[in-house]
Amino acid sequence: MTEQMDALRKSASFARCTDVRPDVAEFEAYEPGLSMEEIRLRYGLERVIKLASNENSLGVPPSAREALLAALSRAHRYPQAGNPRLVSALAERYRVGPERIFVGNGSDELIDLLFRIRAVPGTHNAVAFSPCFGLYVTQAKMAGVELRRAPLGSDFDFDFKAMLKLTDENTTLAFVTSPDNPSGRLAAPERLEDLARALPPACLLVVDEAYMEFADEGQSLLPALDRLPNVAILRTFSKIYGLAGLRIGYGILPERLADYLWRVRLPFSLNILAEEAALAALSDDAFRRESLRFTREGRKLISRELQGMGCSVIPSQSNFIMFSPPAEKMTARQLHARLLERGMIIRGLGAYHLPDWLRVTVGREEENRFFLELCREFLRA
Ligand SMILES: Cc1ncc(COP(=O)(O)O)c(C=O)c1O
Repeated sequence: MTEQMDALRKSASFARCTDVRPDVAEFEAYEPGLSMEEIRLRYGLERVIKLASNENSLGVPPSAREALLAALSRAHRYPQAGNPRLVSALAERYRVGPERIFVGNGSDELIDLLFRIRAVPGTHNAVAFSPCFGLYVTQAKMAGVELRRAPLGSDFDFDFKAMLKLTDENTTLAFVTSPDNPSGRLAAPERLEDLARALPPACLLVVDEAYMEFADEGQSLLPALDRLPNVAILRTFSKIYGLAGLRIGYGILPERLADYLWRVRLPFSLNILAEEAALAALSDDAFRRESLRFTREGRKLISRELQGMGCSVIPSQSNFIMFSPPAEKMTARQLHARLLERGMIIRGLGAYHLPDWLRVTVGREEENRFFLELCREFLRA
């Protein structure tokens, strides 16, 4: 029993039936910011545009809409245990055995379960970068697992040496997001392969590829999986497939781990409508191609224009762009507030401890142009 566990046990006096674990008592509720409706009402606006959560601005794929309507009449039934149709479709797509696929309620569920099945609270630890996707932090905490964070380089590059230095024989998980959130930077697959080989034997490298479909060809670690027995890849239907609200994520994992995930997962965490929509979206090549087209074009336009306005812009391989406005004109906080007043919601990065930076999701052309028009107006000398 470690000191951490002893301390937890000592402080855990459950006097009331409403008391919770001391580490749970420290949790703050997730702060989503104001909703589109709240912004509309607060500022008396007709039009509000949200480019804050890296969703797909094209909306729900038409094929998925149809599938959802058709599946509605079956909503009184439980989904088929293990979602075998979606599992087979994904196995076929990635040319891997279905026993290596796991699907869940968003990749969030996979992240949560990986902490819980791979790390003994108070004994094992996990590593990630700082800043990183917030769920690695909250779910490590919820699982009672120490999360060690290696700082990213000054240009938000991945410092794998620093990450490796934090590992020891009790490190059972290493998280890398590629392309990264919030920077949009890619980790080259060759470097990830080197990292996988250098990690301690008990450590699983989890490569979160939530945004990989937006990156240049050949940047995924997927083709190397067969020679890397200690790697899991996470993907999602929330981004390029336009189904964030339905909560569908999946992983391609070592077979043994996928098996354990299926054993511990809540039996029906991926619901019947989500499964049908995912199946339809997966084979909707036209929607995927169009999403990629408008994202790549918009990304180029926004990056170029923001740079022209004197902003620092991190080169992105994703469907969002991280930037910092020129300090002599306006702080990030001020720009964020001014945009909000005009109905343009983007993401401030205070929660990532990057108060000087903002993150904007690439939208449809007219949304991007409106965003840039406002920035131009506010950042004019
Ligand atoms: C890096 C990263 N991983 C995972 C997720 C969560 O994806 P999902 O919607 O499938 O839970 C997100 C969502 O924004 C993300 O940015």
